[in-house]
Amino acid sequence: MKNLISMRDLSKEEILYLLKLASQIEKGEVNPDMQRRLAALLFFEPSTRTMFSFDTAMKRMNGNTIVMSGTKDTSAKKGESFADTLQTIAQYTDIIIMRSPIEGAARYASEVVGIPVVNAGDGANQHPTQALLDLYSIQKTQGTLENLKIGIAGDLRFGRTVHSLVQAMSLFGAKFKFFSPTFLSIPKNIKEFLHEKKIRFNEFDEDMDIKILSELDILYVTRIQKERFASPEDYEKVKGSYCLTKEMLSHVKPNLKVLHPLPRVDELSSDVDDTKYAYYFQQAQNGVYMRQAIITILLGGV
Ligand code: CP
Repeated sequence: MKNLISMRDLSKEEILYLLKLASQIEKGEVNPDMQRRLAALLFFEPSTRTMFSFDTAMKRMNGNTIVMSGTKDTSAKKGESFADTLQTIAQYTDIIIMRSPIEGAARYASEVVGIPVVNAGDGANQHPTQALLDLYSIQKTQGTLENLKIGIAGDLRFGRTVHSLVQAMSLFGAKFKFFSPTFLSIPKNIKEFLHEKKIRFNEFDEDMDIKILSELDILYVTRIQKERFASPEDYEKVKGSYCLTKEMLSHVKPNLKVLHPLPRVDELSSDVDDTKYAYYFQQAQNGVYMRQAIITILLGGV
């Protein structure tokens, strides 16, 4: 593993190795040392969890970070190309962790620089480090990744976390129930991928049905992302389409966990937070262990 750009680049064995390393790091059995190592955090879209958890991950391993939040105050404003910016930053640092609104930006960066690149989200395409921490959370709460029933609700069309998670869980025989307004349904290329892998899925375009919720092991709720819509009118048509409430969890399996990549807006009621099913803040915490593991593998820290 030289870069981490897409879940489709990872084998099941590589994923299982990352999960094991994250667990060893969490338990203190492995303590990677990143002293004198520097990570560049290049975030051209806003972030709370991904940026701060990568920053935390690096610093917990005695490493350090430099941060570029957008292009303001950089020479990109003077017309410097993206390729020149990347090549310059690669002279100072050991790894580039990058978020961009442009699909394929991280792949492009990995072709331009000679140091590892991590995709921290590229447009509506992929968010592989989120998928890996999601898998870590699923394994921790369910004791297995194999043959689980997973409901995914929300913006399945533009949701990069969804695309990466579906591809990853397909390696473990998951069965999917997709809930979304028709406009935001799962993209054709992901459906083709699922057909190719013979993974079963059903799509529902109305609110989450309590009977279907009662079959699930994991319910992954996502935000309808206003920033991905080309027209405000299209967003207005689907905003507030659904909301998971505590009441809707009255007949779920005892092992069900509700995950959410966060941030949330109005799709996940705060009355779910106090139930035993809520796991989204622990999920965010798991992101630090998984991102420590990712940096460690890419920089050869164990
Ligand atoms: N889950 C996630 O990517 O959150 P941020 O946008 O806050 O990084």
